[in-house]
Amino acid sequence: MTINATAPSGAQPGNARQTDSYVITIANQKGGVGKTMLTLSLAAHTVAAHGRALVVDVDPQANAHDITMVMQQPGYDVMHELDPRALTAIRQLRNYDTILVDCPGSLEGHDVLAEVLARTTYAIIPYDHEPESILPTLRTVERVKAAGVPYAVVVTKADPRLGADHIIDAWTTLEGAGVQHFRSAIRLYRAWPNSLRAGVPITRWNERYAPRLREDIAALHTELLLDLGRRAPKGDE
Ligand SMILES: Nc1ncnc2c1ncn2[C@@H]1O[C@H](COP(=O)(O)OP(=O)(O)O)[C@@H](O)[C@H]1O
Ligand SMILES: [Mg+2]
Repeated sequence: MTINATAPSGAQPGNARQTDSYVITIANQKGGVGKTMLTLSLAAHTVAAHGRALVVDVDPQANAHDITMVMQQPGYDVMHELDPRALTAIRQLRNYDTILVDCPGSLEGHDVLAEVLARTTYAIIPYDHEPESILPTLRTVERVKAAGVPYAVVVTKADPRLGADHIIDAWTTLEGAGVQHFRSAIRLYRAWPNSLRAGVPITRWNERYAPRLREDIAALHTELLLDLGRRAPKGDE
């Protein structure tokens, strides 16, 4: 769907107002780490918890938008918006509990990332613990830190056959680089691509390991809310 944002625009770098909707940005300059997966499953999870979610897809490839458009009753709204400055107006609409921003994975997305971060409450950085992912992930973390945006990295696409050791190894790598990370991780299950192919949100997808993906997303969401709560100014709703 298309949303016409009418509120006045104007960036507020790094200090998104608490009275506006939360803007959760899912970013990593590396492609294929699971940004779109996290964005769409967090949106579906918010809906399953009776919340209102909007996905803003700022990736020119528009995967999050296109996947959602062919989904059976996703329950959340989606828009493809190539100008991240529009987020200033979108967040002031207050129609949503959570606005999730799915970012592009390439370095061409540099300016886009800066504009998005200026309007972000919290950044989630997915990391699949592959050798080629570490440098782009650390560069993304540096950019998020420089923008003064609270963040944490989440280990994604963790092959269950590799067990906990793989996730612990990823955390050791991140901690060695002084990077904050979630204690929950997203495991790799075919239920995810299968649900997309069928056009069914993961919250309603019926396949053997789909509940495990739902568990992982729910755990991440809880951690996210706890971290957001810790950071909210006292007396703020
Ligand atoms: N937890 C997961 N389990 C299985 N496949 C996954 C998972 N997360 C992502 N994938 C797959 O990995 C590929 C890249 O994921 P995607 O979310 O598109 O990454 P990005 O948006 O960072 O480029 C896709 O084919 C997607 O279906
Ligand atoms: Mg993507």
